[in-house]
Amino acid sequence: MAAAVPSIESAAVGAAAEVLRFLSGPPKQLLIDGKWVNAKSGATFETINPANEEVLALVAEGDKADIDDAVAAARRAFETGRWQSMGPHQRARYLLKIADLIESHGEELAQLITLDNGKPIAESISEVGRTVDTFRYYAGWATKFYGETNPSAPALFNYTLREPVGVCGQIIPWNGPLSTISWKIAPALAFGNTVVLKPAEQTPLPAIRVGELICEAGLPDGVVNIVTGFGPTAGGALAAHPNVDKVAFTGSTEVGKLILQASAGNLKRVSLELGGKSPNVIFPDAPLEAAVAMSATGVFRNQGQVCCAATRMFVQERIYDEFADRIAAKANEIKLGAPLDRTTTMGPLVSSEQHERVLGYLKLARDEGAYAKAGGERGPQPKGYFVKPTIYTQVHNAMRIAREEIFGPVAVLIPFKDENDAVFQGNDTIYGLGAGVWTRDLSRAHKVARALRAGSVWINCYGLIDPISPFGGYKQSGFGRELGPQSIDLYTQIKSVYVKL
Ligand code: NAI
Ligand code: MG
Repeated sequence: MAAAVPSIESAAVGAAAEVLRFLSGPPKQLLIDGKWVNAKSGATFETINPANEEVLALVAEGDKADIDDAVAAARRAFETGRWQSMGPHQRARYLLKIADLIESHGEELAQLITLDNGKPIAESISEVGRTVDTFRYYAGWATKFYGETNPSAPALFNYTLREPVGVCGQIIPWNGPLSTISWKIAPALAFGNTVVLKPAEQTPLPAIRVGELICEAGLPDGVVNIVTGFGPTAGGALAAHPNVDKVAFTGSTEVGKLILQASAGNLKRVSLELGGKSPNVIFPDAPLEAAVAMSATGVFRNQGQVCCAATRMFVQERIYDEFADRIAAKANEIKLGAPLDRTTTMGPLVSSEQHERVLGYLKLARDEGAYAKAGGERGPQPKGYFVKPTIYTQVHNAMRIAREEIFGPVAVLIPFKDENDAVFQGNDTIYGLGAGVWTRDLSRAHKVARALRAGSVWINCYGLIDPISPFGGYKQSGFGRELGPQSIDLYTQIKSVYVKL
C-alpha cells in the first residue's frame, strides 16, 4: 500500500533523539531466522500515534506466507537443539542479558510504548520495570524446573522428564505492548521452547525494538521470530498452523474462541487470557480514602484498557452516595492530555476503533438511563482519541454497560445490601478475571475472596500483578495461568521413562 512518508518530528513530538532515529528510515521489518526482512507481499501498514492521529512509522504487514517462514525457522531452531541443548545456565544468561538491555533502553522503550499506545509516560516507565522483572524472574526458573523419580516396583526405575512443548505461537494485544512480550517470551524461552510472536497491529513498535535488543543479546537465529501484521491474516495463520505446538493468546474473548477453534486442526496446546468485567466490592467498614484512590486507579489506569480493570464497583447502600461523590471527584482530578507530558495522568485510547467503541457505550449508557456523575463524553482535545474518565450511577447489574467489557475509562457503581448480595451480583457475569474486596473485617475479607469466582482477588488494594504469582481467568476470561511457577505447565510437557533394572 502506498502511504505518505510520515513526518516523524510532528507525529512523535517531544520524543528523545534515539526514538526519532528508530522511527525514521525505511519501513520496519519482520524478524525471521535472525534476519530483518520485508513481508513477502511487500505490504506495509501505518502505525498511528493515538494522541495526535499522525503516522509514526510504516511496518511490514506479514501474512500467512511470512508466518510459514517464521514457523519453519522456529522449528529448525527447536529441532536442531540450538536453544534447548544449550543448557539451563546459558539460557538463563540470555534472559538476563535481554532484561539488562531492556532496562538500559528503558526510557526509549517507555517513550515508544507511549507513542504507539497512548498511555501516560509514567505508566510506560512502570511497564518497562515490570517487563524487566518478568524476564529476570523466568531467568531464575530456567535452572529450577524438575522431573521426579517415582516409587516403582523393585525391578523397575521410573522417572519423569520435563521437556519443552516445541514451537510456540504467541499473539499479544496492544494494552501492554511490552509487558505482554515478557509474559509470553520469557517463560517459553526459559523452558527451552522457540517462539513466533505476533504483536498487535495497533502497537507493533515496542516489539520491533525488543526484537532488535534480542538480536543484540546474541540469541541463536530462529529462537525468537517476530511477525507484525493483522489478526485474521497473520494471527489466524499462526493459530491454525499445523507445525505450531502451542498457542498463547491474550486479547478479546471473541477472538479467544476463534483461536481455540483454529487450534483443533493439530490439537495444539492453548492458553487464553481474555476479557473481564471485574467486580470491586466496597463494604462500609472499608478504609475509604484508600478504597476511593485505588479503585479509581484500578479502573482508570491505561485509560481503562486493562483486562482486569475494576469496572463494576459494588458499593454498600449506606456509603453509596459518599463513595460516588468521592470517586467522581477523583475522576475529575485526572489530567487528560498529551501522554509524553509528565504531568498528564490520562492519555488517549489506543485507536479510532477503540474510541468509537467506547463512545458507543457512552451513548448506550444514556439510552439505558445511567447518570454520568463524572465524564460521560469525549475529551475536549481537537485531535486524538480522548475520553473523559467516567463514573456512572443509577446502574443495575442487568444493564449492558454493566455486563459487557467496554475497555475504556468507564466504571459503573451498583449498590448492594449485604455480603451475600455483593457476592451474588459480583459473580453474575460471564467473566472471572479479577475482583476486589474492601473491608477491615478480616474474616469477611477472606470469605468474600473465596466466594468470588475470579483468577485474582485483591483485598484492600486493586490490580497488583507480580510475576511471582499466577494470573489468569475463571469462566470466559480464559484458561491457563501465566506468571508464577504455573507457567512451567504451559511451556513444558512431561515424559515418563521406565527402566528395567
Ligand atoms: P483482539 O482480540 O482482536 O486482538 C488481540 C490480538 O489478537 C491482536 O494481536 C490481534 O491482531 C489478534 N487477532 C485478532 N483477530 C485474530 C484472529 N482471528 N486470529 C488470530 N489473532 C487475531 O482485540 P481488539 O480487536 O484489538 O480489541 C477488541 C476488544 O477486545 C477490546 O475492546 C477489549 O474489550 C478486548 N481486549 C482485551 C484485551 C485483554 O487484555 N484481555 C486486550 C485487547 C483487547
Ligand atoms: Mg479485533
